[in-house]
Amino acid sequence: MTDSVISETLLDNLSTAVLQLNEKMHIRYANHAAQALFERSLGLLMDYPIYQFISTSSLDIERLKHSMEQGESFSDSEVELTFLDGRHTQADVSVTSMRELNRSYLLIEIRLVEQQKKISQDNHQWAQQQAAKELVRGLAHEIKNPLGGIRGAAQLLEKELHSEELKEFTGVIIEQSDRLRNLVDRLLGPNIRPKFNWYNVHEVLEKVCTLVNLDPSHSISIIRDYDPSIPDLYLDQDMFQQATLNIVRNSVQALMQYPEIKGEIRIVTRIDRRVIIHGVCFPLCVKISIIDNGPGIPAELKDTLFYPMVTTKAEGSGLGLSISQTLIGHHRGKIDVESWQGKTEFTLYIPIERKDPEK
Ligand SMILES: Nc1ncnc2c1ncn2[C@@H]1O[C@H](COP(=O)(O)OP(=O)(O)OP(=O)(O)O)[C@@H](O)[C@H]1O
Ligand SMILES: [Mg+2]
Repeated sequence: MTDSVISETLLDNLSTAVLQLNEKMHIRYANHAAQALFERSLGLLMDYPIYQFISTSSLDIERLKHSMEQGESFSDSEVELTFLDGRHTQADVSVTSMRELNRSYLLIEIRLVEQQKKISQDNHQWAQQQAAKELVRGLAHEIKNPLGGIRGAAQLLEKELHSEELKEFTGVIIEQSDRLRNLVDRLLGPNIRPKFNWYNVHEVLEKVCTLVNLDPSHSISIIRDYDPSIPDLYLDQDMFQQATLNIVRNSVQALMQYPEIKGEIRIVTRIDRRVIIHGVCFPLCVKISIIDNGPGIPAELKDTLFYPMVTTKAEGSGLGLSISQTLIGHHRGKIDVESWQGKTEFTLYIPIERKDPEK
């Protein structure tokens, strides 16, 4: 065997995908693992630009060009690779700049990360989220008590004042106290005890769809894919509706930022077996997926998504998901998330109880 045949055989036996790109970012070589990753034979990859197969957000084109020009190499771990055919995976990527016969090349190595790391919900993150919520709740309590006093005093003062000009000031104090009180109440969350009863989950989801469709400012289609065999669930209807509405509303708001995309939200219900929720294994759960084809959750938010007051919206309070998580927690359920450009999927798991679990 010649040296070049040996090298090629070695490369083809690697489990790491290896690609060589030329200055125009066209593929000049792909080993077997790369062909498997791209689901294309060498003939269908050779001389095509890499961005014909993967999104530019997966491998930053400017960074690749810079690396090629400056002869710099880099590595990134847990990169979200989005293929233009809709597939998605997570991988560690190394880029090495090479020069050969006065030409620059990039050598790209892609190693798949075995298990896609779910954004939320492992026990460690759950504990941290609960601690953050407790902290915010404690603070909210501390603010709420004196706030009542401030508002009451301003009201008393207002009665004593005769000048309209001065009353304007007390008016501001009362108005701003009310605004703060509203925020504090949302931070504290619902303080009523859940009222559970047996409900058909699809009827509740239909109410959410109706509420979302009532908004005339968007033309996003909601596609239902329900499993009619799902039995009634033991729910607090209002809480469950609020939790799902918050998630569907987020999808609507994300899609509305991109009116050029034909916005679509899919609501899928299924039964799932042996689901582990905060360390407890439930034999039977309902799985409700809310999937949108929007821009995806910004990377910098992924680790803190369920924390209170995390938002990217000018008008947002960042409480929607934190509240949804608490409400689903009242149902002994959990919320998982997977998100990348073009797809965001929130999955709610609610255990199916055979009888009233409180009895
Ligand atoms: N489907 C989605 N697509 C893209 N980003 C999302 C999606 N859902 C949530 N996000 C991001 O997560 C952030 C937090 O959401 P959350 O519902 O907790 O708060 P909010 O929507 O910003 O404010 P609020 O719900 O209190 O009005 C959002 O600001 C948004 O950046
Ligand atoms: Mg929200």
